[in-house]
Amino acid sequence: MHYSTKTTAAENLVTQCLILGVFEGRKPGETLNALDTGAAAALKAALKKGDMTGKPGQTLLLYAVDGIRAERVMLIGLGKKRDLTARTLASAVENAVAQLNESAARDCALVLPPELETAADIYAATRDVVLATEGRLYRFDQCKSRKDRPARPLTRMTLITGSRSIANTARKALAHGQAIASGMNLARDLANLPGNICTPSYLASQARKLGSRFSNMKVSALTEKQMERLGMGALLSVSRGSREPARLIVMEYNGGRKGSKPVVLVGKGLTFDAGGISIKPSANMDEMKYDMCGGASVIGTLQACAELQLPVNVVGIVPSSENLPDGAANKPGDIVTSMAGLTIEILNTDAEGRLILCDALTYAERFKPAAVVDIATLTGACVVALGHHTTGLLANDDKLADELFQAGEAINDPCWRLPMNDDYRKQLDSNFADLANIGGKGAGTITAACFLGAFTEKYKWAHLDIAGTAWKSSDKNATGRPVPLLMQMLLARCKLAE
Ligand code: BES
Ligand code: MN
Ligand code: ZN
Repeated sequence: MHYSTKTTAAENLVTQCLILGVFEGRKPGETLNALDTGAAAALKAALKKGDMTGKPGQTLLLYAVDGIRAERVMLIGLGKKRDLTARTLASAVENAVAQLNESAARDCALVLPPELETAADIYAATRDVVLATEGRLYRFDQCKSRKDRPARPLTRMTLITGSRSIANTARKALAHGQAIASGMNLARDLANLPGNICTPSYLASQARKLGSRFSNMKVSALTEKQMERLGMGALLSVSRGSREPARLIVMEYNGGRKGSKPVVLVGKGLTFDAGGISIKPSANMDEMKYDMCGGASVIGTLQACAELQLPVNVVGIVPSSENLPDGAANKPGDIVTSMAGLTIEILNTDAEGRLILCDALTYAERFKPAAVVDIATLTGACVVALGHHTTGLLANDDKLADELFQAGEAINDPCWRLPMNDDYRKQLDSNFADLANIGGKGAGTITAACFLGAFTEKYKWAHLDIAGTAWKSSDKNATGRPVPLLMQMLLARCKLAE
């Protein structure tokens, strides 16, 4: 979709569909009141007929409205006036976009409600309109030979703003929204691809493509041989059971000052998780192609950083492997030595994410990070604890945890912190090695984080468990989360997030 802003009066704009918000109780609101008297009267008369009351989700499509140049007018319900937020506007617009995408209209113009007063409100609303629109228009049909696409898709959206200064804020928000949405779409595409196409090597090649697109992004992918030299015994033990070679993808985006410490993002890139010898039940096992969603979100976030040329240094690390049963695969009871030197007793080969992440987290040390955030579809227990709405957050630093929580709230990509302490850590005690890779009954998300915590003592670290939020089982589709959360955190660090 192509976006732009205009300060033209709404009634004079030439467009195939003018989108106007109205409030619950058939309250016209400032958008309608600001129109020419003729146009306003025509729309108020239409509202009076009672086909819509202004409730969220409602729309009313009108043709040839007196005093309005647009071919169509779509009224969208915004709910109660005092409850208007970026979110409610965005979901109302999302509805309108879904309808218009199936209609003959190819372009539309949205009047930004004048009820949004502060620059921060306008920024968030505009950004969220873009995120909701792009989210709704996303479809994954790469592997279908017949694409079922709308005959006349919506391709343009103009935002009508009151003043120039509002237009400036909206333009910045449009750019941010578009970069975040493309990052999400990239993450979703990579995630939705099946495991036989999206292999560790494929992920590496996609990351490399970004490296050649941006001059200040350097991408490399360590081979198994290189990882062996580094002593990454935990990561390599997982990939031993697979015919696809593992990769450690390293993406360095240098947008900040030289020498300024980077934020390091580490994403689990398990391209298919059958569980290994501790094999998973077969029902819905196809969804374990999504076990690389953390890695995909890192690649998507790095793309967004580079598209916006954010003034910050960001390193993305994606340990990527398959986890399959095989004669060479890990066996319960096997003991491996991690790059950090800690020995690990593998009591369940299905707890493989932490095995590939721990070596990647040790590798992260060399970048002298300002902070490290890892993102992983790590535990089914997280889905039990938080369902599909909220990402699990665990950290060894309160400020970093708070920063991520606030970022999630600000961009509607929420996460919630769970505790970590020695009581949980003790659950990982092993009879034979420095630690076990599972923590027994109870608190599976926390013990998984405690495992990672043993490898992150040298820097500020947070862990996002996206097992419940990275994809939707209901419609088998990746969500692109938590790209928005990570971008909001980085934009806020750059003081650009409003
Ligand atoms: N990738 C899975 C976690 C997962 C399961 C994510 C279901 C989303 C939905 C991970 O590798 C795994 O298998 N974890 C085990 C850990 C257990 C063996 C301690 C789990 O959660 O069952
Ligand atoms: Mn597993
Ligand atoms: Zn897994």
